[in-house]
Amino acid sequence: MPESIPNIISLPSLRECAPPSALKMPVYLERYQRHFEPIRRQVRAIFELGVHEGGSLLMWRDYFPNAIVAGLDFNPVNLTDSSGRIRIYQGSQDDLELLDRIAAECAPDGFDIVIDDCAHVGELAKKTFWRLFDQCMKISGIYVLEAPAASTRPFRRTEFRQKNGAGYAGVVEIFAP
Ligand SMILES: C[S@@+](CC[C@H](N)C(=O)[O-])C[C@H]1O[C@@H](n2cnc3c(N)ncnc32)[C@H](O)[C@@H]1O
Repeated sequence: MPESIPNIISLPSLRECAPPSALKMPVYLERYQRHFEPIRRQVRAIFELGVHEGGSLLMWRDYFPNAIVAGLDFNPVNLTDSSGRIRIYQGSQDDLELLDRIAAECAPDGFDIVIDDCAHVGELAKKTFWRLFDQCMKISGIYVLEAPAASTRPFRRTEFRQKNGAGYAGVVEIFAP
């Protein structure tokens, strides 16, 4: 392919590439694509909380060619990954020691992207957010709270804004349910 033609990979089509598939709706993937395409090659570390059978980890691995892809789930995940770039951890999203360890092992310079697609419970989402957003992300990082439950709505309107208002340069992108 000539160098002048951008090598754009479509996330919606990548989702179908290898079983298991990511459980993400096309409308989400289109939004992800919009945000992530400009930084696809710069991303060094992405962390998804809640990975089900691991399909989304395969998708992120193939989309971000230079990234370590960390995943966390309550349940064991059996995935074949020949790249060696996928790191899977078992545990709960509110285990702060575990979150710290994952960050230290997978992203010593901070995560570029964190996606919370886990319990969809407000209190858990808040606990995870404050630890990872505060301490484990690059200043330019993108934190995604996917399909926030009703219980996260007050949080989304107040604390997220307060954080940004305090001058933090990180980007928070929240997908509406
Ligand atoms: C919607 S699925 C994740 C789908 C995946 N992100 C994808 O796109 O294919 C949610 C996952 O979160 C996990 N989960 C729910 N609550 C959790 C918690 N408190 N800690 C860790 N994992 C949790 C579930 O086991 C489930 O696999």
